[in-house]
Amino acid sequence: MVEDAVTVGGVDLADPDTYAAGMPFDAFRELRHRAPVARHPYGDGPGFLALTGYDEVLAVSRDSATWSSQATGVFFEVPRQEDEFQLELMMLTMDPPRHTKLRALVSKGFTPRQVAKLNNHVADMAREIVDDVVERGACDFVDDIAGALPSYVIAELLGIPLEDGRRLYELTEIMNTGAVGDTNDDMSRVVDAQLQMFQYGTELAARKRKTPGDDIATSLLDAEVDGERLSDLEFNMFFLLLINAGGDTTRNLVAAGILAMMEHPDQQARLAADPSLLPSAIEEMLRYTSPVTVFVRTAMKDTELRGIAIKAGERVAMFYPSANRDESRFADPDRFDIGRAPNPHLAFGGGGTHFCLGANLARVEAAAIIPEVLSRLEGLELDGPVQRVRSNLMNGIHSMPVKFKPRYASESC
Ligand code: HEM
Repeated sequence: MVEDAVTVGGVDLADPDTYAAGMPFDAFRELRHRAPVARHPYGDGPGFLALTGYDEVLAVSRDSATWSSQATGVFFEVPRQEDEFQLELMMLTMDPPRHTKLRALVSKGFTPRQVAKLNNHVADMAREIVDDVVERGACDFVDDIAGALPSYVIAELLGIPLEDGRRLYELTEIMNTGAVGDTNDDMSRVVDAQLQMFQYGTELAARKRKTPGDDIATSLLDAEVDGERLSDLEFNMFFLLLINAGGDTTRNLVAAGILAMMEHPDQQARLAADPSLLPSAIEEMLRYTSPVTVFVRTAMKDTELRGIAIKAGERVAMFYPSANRDESRFADPDRFDIGRAPNPHLAFGGGGTHFCLGANLARVEAAAIIPEVLSRLEGLELDGPVQRVRSNLMNGIHSMPVKFKPRYASESC
């Protein structure tokens, strides 16, 4: 008999309110010990199996022949029949061989040359973002700092004005948090945001076709694999994915990473004394904060995990924050240790075909903004309650008021 995850863990892992209250690490620990593959109800449907152990998340991520992203999508909510066609248009919810082809195509926009070109700009943007707040002595860390950089970087990547990047980012916030709202008003805001996004993507493709630039949007429209190019709809779906996957996640990493630093002054002092620890500090922030909570897969054949039989068609949910605190992989997993090595965290996924396309870009962004914040916002501390995002997909912070010693930009140059 497979145990029930809600009974063992004591919380509903699909309920956005669970996460608004804080990542349920106690429930995850209990589940890893007692039922790492546990049955979980969802709405009126058959539910899913909650995977909380590292090995299972890794095994499922790496076997896309058995575990489909496309059959029923990767979110808790299974699309309605009339929306199912969307699954085969978005890379995140596609299976090989179609996924392999599209991934090869879009990877051409993410070559080391493209990312390196961005690299210099990212450092300038990070400096300017901190310049903008340094004199104020207080700000909302999420909006003014953590959210600003990824939205500018995506704008730069796509070759669009930086203000447009900010606007698109606001639309994603509405789409991601409004999507779990319960009122009609919430839903109409979400639909409106989706429409605006879609329209922007369509116009962008038309603009870049007419006036190509040295940017990823143009490379994507030009790139060919086996003589095929992205269709307009595929371009638009990828545009949506990029704005979604690249914005909130990096914002959440930077905000939660800085919060972890404020909560662990010893680690902050350690990094200040030895800046060469920055890369391992970022990996530890990724592990400890896990910006993505969960992705789902569907079994394509009868199989098993940890001795539990799983039938073709059953769904499994991979809880990354739990895998990243699995004591069988990480010594003292609840400790925030910026020198942790090795640190084979799964924050970007388990390394399979869908492994995060923007992992290196996210690292570049974090490496630019984190030292800028820690070295220039002197005496950085919380200045009010931290409000978490109400989402069962993104593990994030919605607002985080902070204060610091006001300083003129020129003093630090
Ligand atoms: C800290 C920041 C980020 C985190 C934690 C993160 C996490 C993830 C995760 C967990 C996946 C799914 C992996 C899987 O299913 O195996 C993923 C996929 C993806 N990410 Fe990220 N991501 C981040 C930043 C970015 C950025 C900056 C971009 C682009 C600008 C990006 C673009 C994508 C895309 C396109 C996919 C789908 C890849 C595919 O289906 O082949 N991500 N990401």
